[in-house]
Amino acid sequence: MSTTPNTQASDHPPAAQAPSCKVSASPHDAPASPPGKRPAPPCTLVIFGAGGDLTKRLLMPALYNLAVDGLLDGAMKIIGVNHGERETPEWREDLHTSLQQFAADKASTFHAGKLDDQAWDWVAQRLEYMAGEFESDDTFAKLKQKLAQSPGGNVIFYLAVGSRFFKPIVEHLGKAGLLKEGEGNDGAGFRRLVIEKPFGTDLASARDLNAHILSYAKEEQVYRIDHFLGKDTVQSILAVRFANALFEPVWRREYIDSVQITAAETIGVEGRGKFYEQTGAFRDMVPNHLFQLLGMVAMEPPNSFDAEAVRDKKAEIFDAIQPLTPDDVVFGQYEKGPAGVGYREEPDVAPGSTTETYAAARVFVENWRWAGVPFYLRTGKRLAARRTEISVQLKPVPFRLFRDTPVDALTPNVLTLRIDPAHGTSFDFNVKTPGPVMQIGAVQSSFNYADFFAASANVGYETLLYDCMLGDETLFQRADSIETSWCAVDDVLHPKGGGAMPVHGYAAGSEGPAQADALLARDGQAWRPLSRNPAGKK
Ligand code: BG6
Repeated sequence: MSTTPNTQASDHPPAAQAPSCKVSASPHDAPASPPGKRPAPPCTLVIFGAGGDLTKRLLMPALYNLAVDGLLDGAMKIIGVNHGERETPEWREDLHTSLQQFAADKASTFHAGKLDDQAWDWVAQRLEYMAGEFESDDTFAKLKQKLAQSPGGNVIFYLAVGSRFFKPIVEHLGKAGLLKEGEGNDGAGFRRLVIEKPFGTDLASARDLNAHILSYAKEEQVYRIDHFLGKDTVQSILAVRFANALFEPVWRREYIDSVQITAAETIGVEGRGKFYEQTGAFRDMVPNHLFQLLGMVAMEPPNSFDAEAVRDKKAEIFDAIQPLTPDDVVFGQYEKGPAGVGYREEPDVAPGSTTETYAAARVFVENWRWAGVPFYLRTGKRLAARRTEISVQLKPVPFRLFRDTPVDALTPNVLTLRIDPAHGTSFDFNVKTPGPVMQIGAVQSSFNYADFFAASANVGYETLLYDCMLGDETLFQRADSIETSWCAVDDVLHPKGGGAMPVHGYAAGSEGPAQADALLARDGQAWRPLSRNPAGKK
């Protein structure tokens, strides 16, 4: 989320002048970076988990997009570490094939139309595969040799691996001296660690992981990813709130009735049965992605756009979340329905599994601005629609001016921030309907990104990778926020008196379990239907 304009001369001539990348990889053959953006400093990106899905699906498309935009330094290197002997050309070819598939797949977040061969070659030239076990001393000794020539002494270690490897990799890096900064010729040179979610499975494990990592690296070296923060539409929440005079005055308990935060998916567990069985929808989505959205909606305006200023304000919100009790939460699991088989019939899922694939929660933020305003959160797999959005519902008008007219009830004003797959906002409000009689009709005004801006090649990881290279931590999670978030849900994960949360069935392709409706009905509220016509038009 860097805001620094490009004040230095770029060493990146325009793409048209770039020599063919097939010939040689010089530091000067990247496309020009867009105006107002500077290329990231040179570095080596070491990806642990080079053969994994994350690398193929998200990191490579993001690196490719950054290369297309001229935001990578010509001296950059990318070393992919994975167990299993293979040659660099084979790894490159594999990544290229996947990239071509994703580019052509309209449903994927990365659809580039036709791949730009020159940009791909530019990336490919910088890729090097290194075979190595994640827990073996040899791997790190070998890596150390390779990193001796890292440009500027700068290295980013990206842990795109299962969470069981987080601790051993960090420990090996630390013991091998690879996290020591200032290794460049001029005494500069950064060492950064990027850690994926799940960051722990509860408060105790997150604390333990933080303590372990921080015994080898400083907090400023640690970049904990929540990929939702890489989405333009999520970053835009702050823009909508703080770059417009209209919203902020009503953005408080006096005017806001409730907020609904939804991350509904139509897909099931998609071959991730093993992971999901241990994780479940609640851990997978609530204290991380959904809390991050809540934080963006609820945080106070920071004094500046500095990483620490923004993160401090978000941290205050996580700290103010009233700890959830099992009463505030509903778990569900999809059963056979219009959208397909039940969760228990999915591969790698136990036939009697009680893992939740749906979670809804009623959350309160205990501070001056939000006291008494419910935030309703829900997420689930195999629901009626794919929809990630935040709906802010305003309170009714204070006086029923139209009470003597045929107008009986007014529909509430709702501002919806659409994160995915629609990108934009909509606003529900009331107008007079045409005709001689005073009648009020509910209408919706919408803004779609695509109507105003050229399609963006954003898979969500570009900003995160780029910011990490620049050393901008605004969009990454700090140790304290991770812990306060887990703390707020600890009583749900470990209910007092033992036992587990009940898990209610819902039909695959439905709106979720009836008990989630009851959770809101208690407050006289209802979920916004997932299957509605999004434009709300006749
Ligand atoms: C991931 C979860 O973090 O986020 C997945 O592990 C989920 O289960 C995904 O599907 C949702 O992300 P997005 O960007 O597709 O909405």
